[in-house]
Amino acid sequence: MQYSVLLIGVSVAILGAVGASAQEGNAGDAAAGATVFKKCTACHVVDSDKNKIGPSLQGVIGRTAGTHPGFRYSPAMVKAGEEGLVWDDASLRDYLHSPRAKVKGTKMAFAGLKDDTDITNLLAYLKENSQ
Ligand code: HEC
Repeated sequence: MQYSVLLIGVSVAILGAVGASAQEGNAGDAAAGATVFKKCTACHVVDSDKNKIGPSLQGVIGRTAGTHPGFRYSPAMVKAGEEGLVWDDASLRDYLHSPRAKVKGTKMAFAGLKDDTDITNLLAYLKENSQ
């Protein structure tokens, strides 16, 4: 009897530890995100204000869609911003998963990232590097 109480205690502790590491997993791995970001670098920089084929992603988290100075956005992206689209974890996740589904008519020629973990890691990378 005492033994099984001990066993329950041990398994609760293990579950607690697994839960904690799953939470760390949600925070993402910025180093792995740097590799995912290579899919974006043909069109975007994150560490400077420079626009390329796409707008600079410096400071993108918290930015209203379609508002980076000096970039010619599609009418669809400007409209999405006017309608209240702000880039945060949830909206970036949707957009990066399927750009054309999130902003119908976007001129971002990118099919989307299928793997949720890639997106999580990419978001961690953007947060660390887009200040
Ligand atoms: C082939 C070029 C290209 C690639 C590759 C690309 N993008 Fe874009 N991106 C664009 C263009 C062009 C826009 C502007 C879209 C519009 O105006 O509709 C854009 C817009 C964005 C926006 C909205 C920015 C804003 O200021 O509102 C985000 C966020 C974004 N891209 C992230 C990414 C990420 C992250 C990747 C890699 C996973 C990526 N993009 C890959 C060209 C690209």
